Amino acid sequence: MGEKLETMIVEGGHRLEGEVQISGSKNAALPILAAALLTNEQCVIEHVPFLSDIVEMLAILRCLGCEAEHRSDGSVVVQAKDEKPITAPYELVRKMRASICVLGPLLARRKRAKISMPGGCVIGVRPIDLHLKGMAALGASLDIEHGYIHAEALELKGCEMFLGGAFGSTVLGTGNVMMAATLAKGTTVIENAACEPEVQDLAMFLNTMGAKISGAGTHRIVIEGVEELHGAKHRVIPDRIEAGTFMAAAALSDGDIIIKDARLDHLMAVLDKLSEIGVRVKRLAPENGLERVRIIAAKNYKACDLITLPFPGFPTDLQAQFATILCLVPGISLITEKIYPDRFMHVAELNRLGANIRKESSTIIVQGVDFLSGAPVMATDLRASAALVLAGLVARGETTIEQIYHLDRGYDRIDDKLRALGAQIRRA
Ligand code: EPZ
Repeated sequence: MGEKLETMIVEGGHRLEGEVQISGSKNAALPILAAALLTNEQCVIEHVPFLSDIVEMLAILRCLGCEAEHRSDGSVVVQAKDEKPITAPYELVRKMRASICVLGPLLARRKRAKISMPGGCVIGVRPIDLHLKGMAALGASLDIEHGYIHAEALELKGCEMFLGGAFGSTVLGTGNVMMAATLAKGTTVIENAACEPEVQDLAMFLNTMGAKISGAGTHRIVIEGVEELHGAKHRVIPDRIEAGTFMAAAALSDGDIIIKDARLDHLMAVLDKLSEIGVRVKRLAPENGLERVRIIAAKNYKACDLITLPFPGFPTDLQAQFATILCLVPGISLITEKIYPDRFMHVAELNRLGANIRKESSTIIVQGVDFLSGAPVMATDLRASAALVLAGLVARGETTIEQIYHLDRGYDRIDDKLRALGAQIRRA
């Protein structure tokens, strides 16, 4: 896994061809790992990707008294051995915002939690008020002091709540409250719940642990509290964002790639957008039970407008990668962010490669150019880094991407997978 100073060097102009296997979903695995705090029995989570964010989450679980091991077959075996610790310290939380999702399980099982307030990050302010609103609705008392959330509840009580803010529903917030509510007394109803597949996957794991959750995947989730949860085994869903990133790679590199083990029902908006641009999308028969789709580049693409929205809309986590595609499509494309209005750190870097993008509030106006030319660029966050790697695949000459540790937070050996498809890419 990458050191902080590592760079990635991509030589543009190589056609990508072949098959790529998609790893387990980062954003499903992170809250599922936190859910293991809801029992002192052993949980086995399979298909967990090898990422630095997972390493950080396991460090937090160990700090909270768990034994946790990520095995070479991708399964994580985790068990809470000492249930006294309640603190998630700043040093760990600041490295990964998703650590906020230990709040719900700790409150429910250990009655108390002390969690460092996550800060903002380059993609925006990212408040956690909705997480706190949900916990308060369940009866927790919450104080923020010296940068820490102190939460306490001798007994959580089920209730009806509306969990929405200026930017709609919250993915991790829904998961956090859902986890807390599994052990609350009585029934909890979350209205305006996030419908993302990652929330559904978490609900599935919790139900395997003995929870009684219905409605996950809709805007209304009902959780009937139970006395106790037990150990369970679960396989994490494939990463729809990784799948979408490889689809973009095929579209950009004049490629022809078979994406293996992507859940196509999780990617409808993405496949629809690819077809609208002119990329050929062919569903293939499943192989060994795994879904497959073939993405074939075409010669002439059409400009299009793209708006990021909560699921099943187009995901914000693929906005930067699709911006890279549209940079090279003749005409003007508009991309509007409805989830994180400031998530455009990739724009200045893409412009360094010769793109013609202008930002107007939460929209970018992309004027297609004939080619990109390689240059040194700086990775600023996970998905922006992916967008720059994609740009490097098609840019003339060499693109050097600095600070690629961002990539290792969320892409399981992306350089190995791209190289296997024919990319010229190396770390230095
Ligand atoms: C999850 O973040 C993902 N992270 C993000 O992926 C993803 O971009 C995001 O969902 C949206 O799909 C993980 O699952 C670990 P939100 P989350 O709460 O849950 C606002 C990646 O690249 N909001 O659904 O933290 C918020 O500011 C990452 O893999 C509040 O106002 O996102 C945003 O505008 C980046 N108050 C909107 O809601 C809150 O309490 C949606 O955020 C919480 C959120």
